[in-house]
Amino acid sequence: MKLLVKGGKIIDPANNFFQVADILVRDGKIAAVARNIEADNAEIIEAKGKLVMPGLIDMHVHLREPGLEAKETIATGTRAAAMGGFTAVACMPNTKPVVDNRALVEFIKSRAASEGAVHVFPIGAITKGSEGIELAEIGDMKLAGAVAVSDDGRPVMNAQVMRLAMQYAQMFDLPVISHCEDTSLVAEGVMHEGYHSTVFGLKGITSAAEEVMVARDIILAELTGARVHIAHVSTAGSVELIRMAKRKGIKVSAEATPHHFTLTDEAVGNYDTSTKVNPPLRGAGDVRAVKDGLRDGTIDVIATDHAPHTVEEKDVEYQYAPFGMVGLETAVGLAFRELVRPGILSVEELVMKISCNPARILGLNKGHLGRGADADITIVDPDLKETVDVNKFASKGKNSPFHGWELIGLPVVTVVGGRIVMRDRKLVL
Ligand code: DOR
Ligand code: ZN
Repeated sequence: MKLLVKGGKIIDPANNFFQVADILVRDGKIAAVARNIEADNAEIIEAKGKLVMPGLIDMHVHLREPGLEAKETIATGTRAAAMGGFTAVACMPNTKPVVDNRALVEFIKSRAASEGAVHVFPIGAITKGSEGIELAEIGDMKLAGAVAVSDDGRPVMNAQVMRLAMQYAQMFDLPVISHCEDTSLVAEGVMHEGYHSTVFGLKGITSAAEEVMVARDIILAELTGARVHIAHVSTAGSVELIRMAKRKGIKVSAEATPHHFTLTDEAVGNYDTSTKVNPPLRGAGDVRAVKDGLRDGTIDVIATDHAPHTVEEKDVEYQYAPFGMVGLETAVGLAFRELVRPGILSVEELVMKISCNPARILGLNKGHLGRGADADITIVDPDLKETVDVNKFASKGKNSPFHGWELIGLPVVTVVGGRIVMRDRKLVL
């Protein structure tokens, strides 16, 4: 099976290659990158005027399987990924049961192999049942294929447990992905604490709830020497703490979501529960700081925190709705709108943050397009316009506050291991 991608602008930061060229794919691998490649019997993808990137990697998604299949499954979540231009996702363990042992890591891998449209890399829990008390079987999960550990959705409140988790994860060279939230400070909050929470009459979540945990985990990263990755950074204070930690040489990395660099807490004003997310949408100064952090390299990664919920769960009063919004199918368009077109990130830098850096942090031999690399390829049309329609999402989750937005700059082809899974904005499976 041969595939020939013709005439696109190749954006391959890992190989420092930014030129118009063709890519020949054979047997799931990249066989050649050069000008004017001729190949017999190859399927041709015309990419003139388009951007050809190493397959995008979303290192923070919730696929909800096992146990929460009404919200999403591995089949539907990976189709949403393919539509969004992602060739790989790392999935969080807050399923039912929680992925805290080898058998569940293996279950996800086998399910992904039989039903998945893109590569799936499981993330194991830090603690058993993500209850924050007893460490999960981290080494065993690594042997089964886990690429990181996290109790995402719930913080590890006990600092000694987190210290031990870091020491243990370090032995297996696994990053610890920290959902930074002090639950005692969150209390009953449902949105960012500030002017708008007062006006809207909703209980607030102070920025400090995130920042005290970011500070703690940076201190523990320094103490243990472990690799710590801060999930969904949302406040100016967090960005500054991570910037300082990096200056000191502490092994910390960080991600930001499209919703946190696009929306402020003002968006909660219509009481649309799809704006309810954890951490919450923050103030305008925080959004600016997250963008600054992306620009200056403090924030290494763009990840969606794709968190599907059912319509029934979300169609309730604001305070009763679960936290989370879907993100896979709007991420690239929002990144172009908020970061690339305003000149905050170049396309090269965007590819670093949404492909190269996630691959490096998770230890995947991906995120590059050289000869011999896995043929995971994303092609983006920077001029293509589309109006977001949640009813057309491949995801089961319709909880997006971006419904009705016109996005410009969209993935038009997704190739996974040499196989086309999305072409011209339609799944090919
Ligand atoms: O909004 C969120 N939803 N934040 C999280 O950390 C977890 C996620 C979920 O699992 O729904
Ligand atoms: Zn989280």
